[in-house]
Parts: sequence; structure tokens; C-alpha cells
Amino acid sequence: MPKKLIIGVLASGQGSNLQAIIDNVRQGKLNAKIGCVISDNPAAVALERAKEANIPAYYIYPGEYKTKLSPEQEIAYVKCLKEYKIELICLAGFMRILHSHFLQTFKGRVINIHPALLPSFPGLHAQEQAFNYGVKVSGATVHFVDEEVDTGPIIIQKTVKVKENDTPELLAKRILKVEHQIYFQAIQLFAEGRIKIEGRKAKIVVRNKE
Ligand code: GAR
Repeated sequence: MPKKLIIGVLASGQGSNLQAIIDNVRQGKLNAKIGCVISDNPAAVALERAKEANIPAYYIYPGEYKTKLSPEQEIAYVKCLKEYKIELICLAGFMRILHSHFLQTFKGRVINIHPALLPSFPGLHAQEQAFNYGVKVSGATVHFVDEEVDTGPIIIQKTVKVKENDTPELLAKRILKVEHQIYFQAIQLFAEGRIKIEGRKAKIVVRNKE
């Protein structure tokens, strides 16, 4: 068995994506260990889920801004992740933009899940944006994080059909189910060293079965 990839998860809310990662690790479908979970929200359910799974879980004050970490608090996040020797950072409903100190420290090692088919509908409330636009197909995207919002190389996407009698809430629920299916797959690809970034593309190395 190859060495387990040590991942850190950053989450702001419910943490259902974190839970899916925990479950897939337990079921042996993901060769990873969750080193720690960090939240910018002391009331995040994600922190409870982590504690229940015996994973070190921390609320770290994000600073005075609403949409990003303050520069000094970004340093505190990086310090914690380094203490746990985190090799890949997975943003799972983490509602803040990361800046250069964080991204330079973990270059090519930060990924995110987004509830739409990027590059359409980046940013907040992506499911509702897609629904209001009137698309017939939406979905979820796992991608690398770069300095812009939701623009990094795409690792996996999966589609979800918009139904005629849909609501933004129903669509979001079906997208969330798909998120749970694809996030661990992207992490597993990273763990297997099968993602090569070439320009703006994340190429997946195909291995022939012997
Ligand atoms: C998920 O739908 C995730 O894609 C989205 O927040 C939700 C978190 O759910 N993330 C973003 O919109 C990031 N811009 P969870 O806390 O149950 O995993």
C-alpha cells in the first residue's frame, strides 16, 4: 500500500463534503489521512463532524474581512497546516478567498469544489446563478485554486440536469450529491500522482490496467 496522502480540509459550514471525504477514507476508497480540519466559523458543523471522527479540528480567527483572510491570519492558517505536515489542502465550502502567501506556500497543492460547471457561474450562490440563468445542465467542478476566483485548472467535472419543475434548492441538493461523488475521486488522483498541470490544463495520467 503506498503512503497515505496527508490532507487538510478548510470548511466554513455544514461540512457534508468533509463528511464524504471522511467516509471514503474509512471505506478504503481514498488513500489519505485527514491531518486536520480548520474553520473560519466557530459554529461550523464541519468542526463537529471532524471531532466525531477524531480529527484535530480548529476554529482559527479569519481576521476582520468578510471575504478573505487577513494577511496575519493567513499566516496562522499556514502555520497550523504545516504543523500537521499537510500535503494537499482541500477547500470544502470554505467561503474565503486565499491570497499569495497561502497559495505560494502550498503551490499546486490547494484544490476546491465548486457547485457549478466552471467557468460558468463562479463565486457565491452558483447553483442559484445557474438556475436563474436558465441553463438546462449544471453540475460540480473540482479545480486547483489560483489567485483569481474559481479560475484554476479543472480536475473533474460532473453534470446535473436541470428539471422543468426545479427550484434552486432542489438543484443545489442534487449538485451536492454529485460533489460528494467527485471530490474524493479528485483527491485520490492527486494521491496517486496522476494529475499533471500543463498551462491552464490539469491533465489526468491514464494508467493501463495490467
Ligand atoms: C458546497 O455546495 C460547495 O460546493 C460550496 O458550498 C457548499 C458547502 O457544503 N462551495 C462554494 O460555493 C465555494 N464557493 P458543505 O459544507 O455541506 O460541504
